[in-house]
Amino acid sequence: MEERKTIFSGAQPSGKLTLGNYIGALKSWVELQNEYNCYYCIVDLHAITVPQEPKNLRENSLSVLAQYIASGIDPEKNTIFIQSHVSAHTELAWVLNCMTYMGELNRMTQYKEKSRKSEANLNAGLFTYPVLMASDILLYQTDLVPVGEDQKQHLELARDLAQRFNNRYSDTFKVPEPYIPKVGARIMSLQDPNKKMSKSDENENAYILIIDSPDVIRKKIKRAVTDSLGVVAYNDEQPGIKNLLNIYSKLSGESIEAIVERYEGQGYGKFKEDTAEVVIEGLRPVREKAEELLRSKDYLEKVYMEGAYKAEAAARKTLRKVYKKVGFIPRKFE
Ligand code: TYM
Repeated sequence: MEERKTIFSGAQPSGKLTLGNYIGALKSWVELQNEYNCYYCIVDLHAITVPQEPKNLRENSLSVLAQYIASGIDPEKNTIFIQSHVSAHTELAWVLNCMTYMGELNRMTQYKEKSRKSEANLNAGLFTYPVLMASDILLYQTDLVPVGEDQKQHLELARDLAQRFNNRYSDTFKVPEPYIPKVGARIMSLQDPNKKMSKSDENENAYILIIDSPDVIRKKIKRAVTDSLGVVAYNDEQPGIKNLLNIYSKLSGESIEAIVERYEGQGYGKFKEDTAEVVIEGLRPVREKAEELLRSKDYLEKVYMEGAYKAEAAARKTLRKVYKKVGFIPRKFE
């Protein structure tokens, strides 16, 4: 039998997951799980690059795990685990840090944006964040990385680092490819449709959480910033409406053209109401299942323990090779 190709992806438990995470990433993860050997990670080490309340971090990590499973990622078929449980991630990150140029990290747009926002906490972790992400990916000899568009630049660094290591030593890492959905790769803020929807936005109305109640979703979509043209059309001059159309299309499975046609000659009121219903119904099963799972802590524990065990074995194998090639003396021969 031909060996399955490998997928790696993850989300930060720096808050609750948003509709952007769901459409841009989780939906692809679910679609890909039958054809690939998948590792889906809860990247808690990345989350602490901005200050986290320990209690919230624990709660959000479990909640992200529950939402992965509730979205349809089957723990029997996939390896679902918590990043800090597999120490090889930070170990490889050190080696790769020593091969990454300051200039490469300085160019990262996410770093530039985040550092502008958190000048008081400009820590080194935020700067080397993409190197840890490259380690996540490269440890598993990953072929494909399903992510939203905002992660594209980080993925390019992972590819460059894989190639650099392979050239300097010898073939060690697979060079991973990005997998970015055509529609919905960048779901925008409901309050400022020129900015991406983010779980760390200070304005709660800017994002929809997977676990938001129907009433909250209705309210947030009603308040979504649009424009004064009053025509439901898909173009860059109407970024608010374009964003709602992307959301509607991704969650209903209908084409953008069909939706635009349905609302021809109508204002935004009915379109927004219907979009809210599509979102509510699209997220309902995920929210309900996640709530149920969060009540069975033993089950969640079992999933992440087994996940860590499987991930650890794969990650160690790569790390051993890396240490050897770099010139470290093995502690013992395995
Ligand atoms: P994070 O936690 O910000 O987001 C998780 C996934 O959701 C996607 N995403 C979006 N997609 C569309 N529209 C949006 N508004 C939106 N917001 C987020 C992200 O692109 C991502 O796929 N650095 C990563 C986590 C990470 C990772 C990895 C990902 C760490 N190591 C290795 C892949 C492989 C991040 O911060 O994702």
